Order: sequence, then C-alpha cells, then structure tokens
Amino acid sequence: MGASAGRGYSAPLRAAAQGLREYIRSRMSADLPRHSAVSWFDPLYQAANREAAGVPWANLEACPAVTEYAASHSGAGRAVIVGCGLGDDAEVVAAAGYVTTAFDVSDEAVAWCRERFPDSTVEYRVADLFDLPEELVGVFDLVVEVRTVQSLPPELRDDAIDAVASLVAPGGSALVVALSRPDGTIPSGPPWAVSPSELNRFEHSGLTVLCHRSEGDHLVLELFCSRGHE
Ligand SMILES: C[S@@+](CC[C@H](N)C(=O)[O-])C[C@H]1O[C@@H](n2cnc3c(N)ncnc32)[C@H](O)[C@@H]1O
Repeated sequence: MGASAGRGYSAPLRAAAQGLREYIRSRMSADLPRHSAVSWFDPLYQAANREAAGVPWANLEACPAVTEYAASHSGAGRAVIVGCGLGDDAEVVAAAGYVTTAFDVSDEAVAWCRERFPDSTVEYRVADLFDLPEELVGVFDLVVEVRTVQSLPPELRDDAIDAVASLVAPGGSALVVALSRPDGTIPSGPPWAVSPSELNRFEHSGLTVLCHRSEGDHLVLELFCSRGHE
C-alpha cells in the first residue's frame, strides 16, 4: 500500500492494489468509521499466513528515514513505534539504544513480530492509536510513525495525528514518514496520501517541525515537543 498506488507498476500489481482497495472498502461501514477503519488490518495479516508477500506494505526492511535517524541519534531514552507492522523499524530503533515499545492494532501483526524477533528487546504489544493505554501517553523521547496515518481515512486524520503527538514526552522528538500529495488534491485511498497542510496538525498538537523534506514520493518530518518543556 506504500508506493504501490503509483504509476509505472505492472498490471498485476495495479490489479492487486485495486482488489485490496475494494476489500477494504467492503469492510468499512459509514456508521462505524473508526472501528471499520482499523478492523480490516488484522484479517489481512491473518490471511497472509506469515508470508510477507501477502502484506502489501511489508518489505522486511526498516524505512530508510528511520535507519538514517537511528544512526545519527544517541538512542538515549524511550521510543515507541506506532502501527509497527512486522517490526523492522522497531528493531532498528532498539538497536540504536532506545528502550523501545512497538504497538499495532493487529494481534496477528504483533504475534508475527514476536515470532520474527524472538530475542528482541522490543516490547511488542497490541494497542489502538485511538484508544491509547494511559501509560503510553506523553512518555516517549522518540515517537516513530511510518505510514500509519496515511492508512487511515482522511476523516480520522486529525484524531490520528493528535494521538501520535500525544505520545511524545516534553522535550521529546517525533519522526513521521507519509506518502505525500500536493495541497488542494483529493486523496483516493487507501493509502490516503497526506498533504503538507494536513501535517501542520502536528504543530496544532504541540509539536514543532524541525525538518521537513521529501524522499521520493514520501514526506519526512522531524518534530520536537516543547509542550511542558522547561
Ligand atoms: C500501512 S501499515 C504500515 C506498517 C509499518 N509502519 C510499515 O511502514 O511497514 C499501517 C499499520 O498500522 C496499523 N494500524 C492501523 N490502525 C491502527 C491503530 N488505530 N492503532 C494501531 N495500529 C494501527 C496496521 O495494523 C498496520 O500494521
């Protein structure tokens, strides 16, 4: 679901992406947007049956922006990975020295992470970004969010961004990676690409953008939380 919506892909891949969209839409109901927006992930991981090829966004590698960030930061403190998928970003962040929690709304994804990384120091857990356990709120020195906001419908965008921002401790940082689209265009997802002005919501949530760059068809944001920071 990452870049797979773009031009230049083979007809079978485009057909698979279209099939996935139809599947997701069929699981979404208008009256329960939040529940239906997240309820299709677990069956998808289950249907993949531990084959990464069955998970459109999984490439069994950390996101390059996460690898780069981890290589250039001290790794002191606690980190959390939002919507951790198959765990590659979490492992890179933990290897950099952060005491790392990684959560996903999908039980199957979390069980898969634990199987892939049986000796990991990462605490993999099931949690819903829209119903965060109290002990996760406001305590992380580093929050990593890669392609989860874009996987949720635009109606939920502000709530999703507010929830991601709520994880950051005063003085902490966040790294956000999302498929981008120009302002003024309408996203047709999933994934629902994110525009620069939508990402301004992070500032509204108390974070300051330190760095904002494009990497291919993705936007990468590095943010700092001055909320409550002396
Ligand atoms: C497009 S995938 C990206 C996975 C991973 N971050 C990556 O880049 O490979 C989105 C992930 O977010 C998870 N997710 C979706 N909604 C969530 C929610 N409300 N709370 C926690 N995880 C969620 C999904 O289960 C899925 O693993």
